[in-house]
Amino acid sequence: MCGITGYIGTRDAVRTAVQSLHQLEYRGYDSAGVASAAGGCIRIVRATGKIAALDALLEGSAVTSGAAVAHTRWATHGRPNEANAHPHQDCLGRLAVVHNGIIENYAELRHSLRRRGHEFASETDTEVLAHLLEERLRTSPTADDLLAAVRATAAEVTGSYAMAVVCRDLPDTIVVARQDSPLVIGLGAGENFLASDIPALLPYTRSVLVLEDGDVAEIGPNRVRITDAAGQEVERKPMEVTWDASAAEKGGFTHFMLKEIHEGPVAVRETLRGRLMADGAVELPDVAITPEQWSHVRRVIIVGCGTAYHAGLVGKRLMEELLRRPVEAAFASEFRYSDPIVGAGDLALFISQSGETADTLAALREAKRRGALTLAVVNAVGSTLSREADAVLYTRAGPEIGVASTKAYLAQVAALACLALYLGRSAEASADARAALARSLAALPEALAACLDRSDEVAAVAQALGGHSCFFYLGRGYDFAAATEAALKLKEISYIHAEAYAAGEMKHGPLALVEPGVAVVGLCTQAATHEKMLSNLREVKAREGTVVALINDSREAPPEVDHLLRIPETHSALTPIPALCTLQLLAYYVALARGCDIDQPRNLAKSVTVE
Ligand code: AGP
Repeated sequence: MCGITGYIGTRDAVRTAVQSLHQLEYRGYDSAGVASAAGGCIRIVRATGKIAALDALLEGSAVTSGAAVAHTRWATHGRPNEANAHPHQDCLGRLAVVHNGIIENYAELRHSLRRRGHEFASETDTEVLAHLLEERLRTSPTADDLLAAVRATAAEVTGSYAMAVVCRDLPDTIVVARQDSPLVIGLGAGENFLASDIPALLPYTRSVLVLEDGDVAEIGPNRVRITDAAGQEVERKPMEVTWDASAAEKGGFTHFMLKEIHEGPVAVRETLRGRLMADGAVELPDVAITPEQWSHVRRVIIVGCGTAYHAGLVGKRLMEELLRRPVEAAFASEFRYSDPIVGAGDLALFISQSGETADTLAALREAKRRGALTLAVVNAVGSTLSREADAVLYTRAGPEIGVASTKAYLAQVAALACLALYLGRSAEASADARAALARSLAALPEALAACLDRSDEVAAVAQALGGHSCFFYLGRGYDFAAATEAALKLKEISYIHAEAYAAGEMKHGPLALVEPGVAVVGLCTQAATHEKMLSNLREVKAREGTVVALINDSREAPPEVDHLLRIPETHSALTPIPALCTLQLLAYYVALARGCDIDQPRNLAKSVTVE
């Protein structure tokens, strides 16, 4: 959730590192800072709030050649203030450290460092790294000494870290280390870059080295030397990033979220490409699971957090429908501590946009430890989840910058539908049923484009709903699964209380909350339960709630509905995809009308890399 960047070369190191930091604003942060090593000293500039505040402090300052590391902080230890902002220094001011992650044994380390005479300037866990390094560095250290000091310090701490260190005696060196927190090196000519996430590098280079857990690396303008935790030199092959740099920018939309909602059709099309064949068969050539391994799968368990979990709820129903076998869905944060009954014969699916979510990673490790076959359904190529799972099914939604997940959800559900068709190819579901699903799947990009064409109608409904203080999203079956995600979308970006309920549960309690000022969005796309949904909405209307119905194009407008949202006809199991496209737009326009910080909602971060 924090962001790291760094630069070493002939450009203005400080400004390049800070510029690069702007590409990571989407990660969510409360303060920012930069440190440079040049001219025999360390210079640190830090500011609370947005990176723009840091830019303002740097305005007019001299050009700094040499090495610089920069950071955006999202508070975990200590308040979000300037003293706690990174970079942090040792007592002598010889070095500066930026760090993502959590040092779990920081309290005891801090205590013993204090006893040895160190003085702390912040409440952070990160600062212990600076003082531990200080103890290991002799006067006039070489790059090798710094590398060894970082390696030894890394061995002393427990927890997760991506750290970058500059030293005043070494203006042509940055030393970095990673464990359970992403870190990549961007390769240039006579210059090198550093970042916690690839988009920060795209304005400068496409050639990227992804560090692995335990790696400690020394970076100079013309060199990158990587060693493993034992100090052995290791080779990491550079990968070529094919994303267009503009794919990580807003591309003319007012917000990344809106841009990404509009990228939904492409995200789904790309996810299906080369997997859903013209004859409706599904092939998964890029998923490294052998036919023999597939044949041993007896049960499926789907695990994720937030939006990814909600996609999993759709996947659960879909797989049960096609496979006629029990499929479970679990929050990663619950699964990991539940002493889960999982092992050989189970396919454990881990869904994640970022591939770096701490709970999902921990759940994956637990499932692996217990012998399950693990498959990651992931968007971020090269992410930790994708590297640790037995196999990966990439969702190919492209980079998602807005904190609120949009196109990633659509791609996740499409990927799960592919997987259900693949696993169900010899199951009991009839060939006709599978063919119908495959046809609808192929037609989804067009269905999504049709939803987007109705943006103005959705915006008008949002305008009318902006003053409501509470929303319920009701549905049955697939509509209920979709409702969970729709409610999350609204609450995270508009700050309006929103809850999803299985419509049949309303009478068992929540109906007591319905009164004027409460909006109830009824998802009514399932033929089998359509009449029941309408009667639920009538009950809301009778209590003077505002009723919004989301229905298929073929349906007549139900009476007693205040507002109507329409989506194109699709297979019942796939309706969450067009429904969410429309309801993401609804959430977006409600939040827009309320003047919310849509791409970076308060208190939230794009990637939750700590528990
Ligand atoms: C979605 O809008 C969220 N901001 C959040 O729930 C997110 O889906 C969750 O943190 C999981 O992230 P992941 O997909 O990167 O693992």
